[in-house]
Amino acid sequence: MNQTAPMPAPESSDQADSSVIALIPRINIHAFCEEQSTATAIQAGGNDRRMSKAHLDVHLGGILAAIQVYQQQQTPDVLIVETKKSRDEVMSELGHLAQVCEPTTKVIIIGQINDVVLYRDLIKAGISEYMVAPINEMQLIELIAGMFDDPGAEPVGRVMAFVGAKGGVGSSTIAHNVGWYIANKLASDTVIADLDMAFGTTGLDFNSDGIQGIAEALGAPDRIDQVLIDRLLTKCTDKLSLLLSPSTIDRDVKVEKDALETVLDVVRKNVPYVVVDVPNIWAPWSKHTLAHADDVIIVSTPELASLRNTKNLVDHLKTVRKNDAEPIIVLNQVGLPKRPEVPVGEFAKAVGITPSFVIPHDALTFGTASSNGQMVFEVSAKAEGAQQLVMLAEKLTGREPQKKASKMKMPSILEKLKGLGKK
Ligand SMILES: Nc1ncnc2c1ncn2[C@@H]1O[C@H](COP(=O)(O)OP(=O)(O)O)[C@@H](O)[C@H]1O
Ligand SMILES: [Mg+2]
Repeated sequence: MNQTAPMPAPESSDQADSSVIALIPRINIHAFCEEQSTATAIQAGGNDRRMSKAHLDVHLGGILAAIQVYQQQQTPDVLIVETKKSRDEVMSELGHLAQVCEPTTKVIIIGQINDVVLYRDLIKAGISEYMVAPINEMQLIELIAGMFDDPGAEPVGRVMAFVGAKGGVGSSTIAHNVGWYIANKLASDTVIADLDMAFGTTGLDFNSDGIQGIAEALGAPDRIDQVLIDRLLTKCTDKLSLLLSPSTIDRDVKVEKDALETVLDVVRKNVPYVVVDVPNIWAPWSKHTLAHADDVIIVSTPELASLRNTKNLVDHLKTVRKNDAEPIIVLNQVGLPKRPEVPVGEFAKAVGITPSFVIPHDALTFGTASSNGQMVFEVSAKAEGAQQLVMLAEKLTGREPQKKASKMKMPSILEKLKGLGKK
């Protein structure tokens, strides 16, 4: 506890925008609750990806139990204590807690009384924050993140993970086009990281044979820092850099999930957008990358196997990313001549999420782009697929989506699809 400047009053909104909350650093957080429901809420917060680096211990017993414990051991970086007592009793128990509490420990009180005078008294007494029960786990995360958010620190970039429901659905193509568009048309620095060690297509798609950066970085997990990553990035255009994979079967690259997370953390310190091309491989590192990304984009096709895999991915991501927006689904290669397809509506119903973008099969545009090492926008900016990808890039970067375009285009495509499904 300390006597420094009081924190601002607690947020009045009970729905924090979880997509903008900073990550909580490697700190110790201990909680002593009175109510099991509070303990459960805090523990649920601990399972959120933003808390994954922090070490959380939750106990019952309130302030008195905390006082007992900290007579023997040091207080953590953040101490959360719940009390059901009246104002005077709270202040007196806190007096005892203060005697065992390190000055650097930030204390959060959870109480029953919604009273501004009590709040002010607590802040004056050196308490960092006061929350009224029942607490919302995301509010707690936001509060703790805010305490450690260094205003002088570099802003942290968004990690956007693209994954295909199965191989060949166009996930890499879409990731590369979106990354290129953000860098070259929306003018934001972007890195595209290719995690497909053996079969990666980023080098081909951008006509680039630069350094196989990601393998170098993963091979030296202890040396991963800004200097190393800068050396391993291949510059593609003014604002676009690539972290290329070896894309060869002659080399075994061991991918460790923690090393990969460190690589992406270092990359995101320097650029606002990191597009991660996650191959269709179910491994600890791919699961971890999808679970921890800011945005997940699942690229799928209107076929049974893709549908099943999309549903499984969505169900998994909903459980490991409880406090995040649903993954964005892109239905690609729709309308492949003569192929029986699952209609969009049925796909949406089965998966539980309506695809946000529907891209027609367009062998000419995509094929030309692919064989020339170009982007679809360069081949045909007017193509429906190119326009859908513009909207995806705009959605991911929070630029105003082209509402008119989407309203005009979607129904006609959906109509076409409905027709196709019936054939
Ligand atoms: N909408 C589309 N229409 C036609 N071809 C496409 C479309 N999207 C992607 N492709 C092509 O499909 C192939 C596989 O794409 P790729 O991005 O490598 O798939 P993934 O990364 O999912 O395995 C590429 O040749 C690509 O050009
Ligand atoms: Mg791929």
